[in-house]
Amino acid sequence: MDWGLKNRISRIIKPHDGKTVMLAIDHGYFLGPTDKLEDPKKTVNKLEKFCDSIMLTRGILRTSMNAKFATPIVLRISGGSSIISNDLSNEKITTSVKEALRLNASAVAMSIFVGAKYEHNSLISLGNVINEAEEFGMPVLAVTAVGKELEKRDARYLSLACRIASEFGSHIVKTYYCDEFEKVINSCPIPIIIAGGPKLDEQKALQLTYDAINAGAAGVDMGRNIWQSEHPIEMIKAVRSIVHGNKNSNEAYTDFKLAIKK
Ligand code: R5P
Repeated sequence: MDWGLKNRISRIIKPHDGKTVMLAIDHGYFLGPTDKLEDPKKTVNKLEKFCDSIMLTRGILRTSMNAKFATPIVLRISGGSSIISNDLSNEKITTSVKEALRLNASAVAMSIFVGAKYEHNSLISLGNVINEAEEFGMPVLAVTAVGKELEKRDARYLSLACRIASEFGSHIVKTYYCDEFEKVINSCPIPIIIAGGPKLDEQKALQLTYDAINAGAAGVDMGRNIWQSEHPIEMIKAVRSIVHGNKNSNEAYTDFKLAIKK
């Protein structure tokens, strides 16, 4: 692996344990001003020191993130449909790899829509982005989007989507946790990180984190279950203690409850 590519990946997936806590705040690119992410600058200022990297769009990077912050950036470069459109899978590349380099991103991220109407377009875009990114040693994070059809979140479907992402040459893949998650992990040769999905109570979100790590995930790319919590700092610390600190979900939840009482 080229030095630059290896170095960028090691900014995201920490070499000492092969794990990562990525904070996702890219939701506005299709959801608009999502609840508790209306002012991304506040979210970034509060949480950036507790994550290993931040996933966001270039607009939010430029407007809401201090260029002096050292936190690595994972730049979302796909988009093109909103939550009120007929088909969320109709995404294209909206930001170039060159722009990602200019913004000093440590990786680029884009969605693929396996099984959806625009599956073909999104997969060909993934191939094209990887071809371009390889030239500059820029890692590509493929996001296995399931859109509105959440019933597709089973091991068979997610294994298919993650494996395809890896076959195309992605360096990391983001997916959702599901029953029999080991099957997804064992059939995918690249690191898998999980999205948190819609807000759960903290205990359930910590359980989800633990189950994913225990099954072999390399970490989380989590958004709503952190910044929609009434206690986002305590929550990200609890997530971190599972991902990097070998805590189980009960220990992490106990620490969380103690921390919010102080
Ligand atoms: C969705 O595709 C977005 O990229 C989000 O970054 C992703 O869903 C992770 O955020 P959450 O944990 O809120 O699901």
